[in-house]
Order: sequence, then structure tokens, then C-alpha cells
Amino acid sequence: MKTEYKFDHKHILGIAQLSYDDIEYILHTAESFKEISSRSIKKVPTLRGKTIINLFFEPSTRTRLSFEIAAKRMSADTFNISASTSSAVKGETLVDTAKNLQAMNPDVIIIRHSSSGAPTLLTDHIYTSIINAGDGTHEHPSQGLLDLMTVKEKKGKIEGLKVSIIGDIGHSRVAHSNIIGFSKMGAHVSVSGPATFMPVGIDKLGAKVCDSMQEAISDADVVMPLRIQKERQKDPLIPSFREYASHFGITENMFELAKPDAMVMHPGPINRGVELTPEIADGARSVILDQVANGVAVRMALLYLVIGNS
Ligand code: CP
Repeated sequence: MKTEYKFDHKHILGIAQLSYDDIEYILHTAESFKEISSRSIKKVPTLRGKTIINLFFEPSTRTRLSFEIAAKRMSADTFNISASTSSAVKGETLVDTAKNLQAMNPDVIIIRHSSSGAPTLLTDHIYTSIINAGDGTHEHPSQGLLDLMTVKEKKGKIEGLKVSIIGDIGHSRVAHSNIIGFSKMGAHVSVSGPATFMPVGIDKLGAKVCDSMQEAISDADVVMPLRIQKERQKDPLIPSFREYASHFGITENMFELAKPDAMVMHPGPINRGVELTPEIADGARSVILDQVANGVAVRMALLYLVIGNS
């Protein structure tokens, strides 16, 4: 990293906006914060007096709670709004909701929305820092960053690794953030899945589209099956989960094709027996819960850096 480097982002809208140096700096900052979560008193005063709003228009277990824990561990005040309990149900627009939240002077608004581009839209209308917690099929930057952190932590590097992303590539914002992020950091990303899940032009993000699962997984360092995003599919795009599992599910036999020290990742929530077998999900080479733990550290880093720039 150049000595004159400065992190210069007020908003985190996608991995696409981040440079190699930005990603290195975020991961370095997250690594330095990770230790706080292992203390008996898991709190530092870094963001005391700061106000953070979680505005979630879609369900979430990991991301919402992880951002809230991250903020609280840094002594910020956090507030949660979900679509069903907000005035969106009375017809208020997203922009009006955001302007009203801004009037209460928060430091950061974290938003998850089913529409791709919703977080970016808000940056045109309000000056509060925005963090994208997942927008439609576009990006999920904090997930991409925690995945990068987990691979770097476990493998000691990212550059040169083969990362295989399997399944519903087209509807997955995690796939998009990870293809961009891992490619930017020098990994070789291969993708495989049903043709109906493979968007035209995905190779332009940096992924190699493989003709077979064997090609995608052979000698992989990281295998990352994705959840089938039923909520984003208008019509069924696969005949059945059983048929999907028999062709694209990660089983022990399939995982044998990867390198002996390969690891399996999944952004969650997982569908056991569909994208991967329980033996793989809970096996010694699964780092799924390490990803969740690193999510807190990455989100601490993002809040710290974004507030420092706002
Ligand atoms: N990985 C992820 O975004 O999980 P949640 O939907 O539970 O936040």
C-alpha cells in the first residue's frame, strides 16, 4: 500500500467502488478490531455519541444483528427500523423516509432493500453516510468484505487462489460482490450453476463461466455454494430442489475434486441438503461460522472508517 494512501469513502455502496488499497485497508482495520469481540468486556468508546440506524426492508439475521453488535461494541447508539413497522406501509416513499431519518441527525444509515440501487438513490437525496446492507441483486459489500477477510485469515493470502462460486449467480448480490472483490484482490473466480441462473456478461465482472461442476471445483481452494434466491425469481427456474441438489449440491464426493485443504464457505442462510449436505456444512473444512464472526469485525471497521470520513 502506498504511504500517501487515505481511505476516502463517505458511503459504502458496493465493492465495485473500492480500490485494491481500500479493501486492504478495510481488512487491516477489521483485523485490528477483531480482538475486541474476544474480550470479557466487549466494548470500546471509539464511536461514543454516534447514532446508527439500521433500516431493513428485507428479512435478515446475520447482517442486521452483526451491524448492531458492531456498533454497540464501539459504544454507538443503534436503532432498528423494519419495513413492516415503518410508515412505508402507509405509503411513505423511501426517499421521504430517509429524509425524515436524516432530520434526527444520525451519523450512518445502514439500508437493506429489495431494489437494486436503493442505497445509491438515497445518496442523491440525503447527506448522511449510507452503508449498503444488500440491495436487490446488485451488491452486498459487507458480506463480500467478510468473505475476503475469512479467506485471507485462513489461507494467509487471496492472490492466486481458485475461488469457485456455485449456484444462483444471477440473483445473488453476494456473488456479484465476491466476483468483483476476489478478482480485484488477484484470485481466480470460477462460477457454475444451472444455465437459468447464469446471467449474460457475468464474465465481464471477472468470473470464468465453467461448462461443468467438475471444471469449476477441480483444484479449488475455496468452494462457495449460494442459496437459491426464490424470493427474486418470478417463475421457477429449476425443475425441483431435489434435481438441483443432485447436479449442483456440494456433497463429499463433489468436494473431493477441490484441493485437499480447500474450505467451504456460504453466506447464509443455508438450505441443508440443497446447496450443500449437512456433512459439508458442519464438517471440519467448513468456515461458515468463521464468516459470521468476521462479519462483526468487518462491520466495526466500516462504521469506524465511514464515520471518520463523514
Ligand atoms: N448473509 C446474509 O446477508 O444473511 P442475512 O440475510 O441473514 O443478513
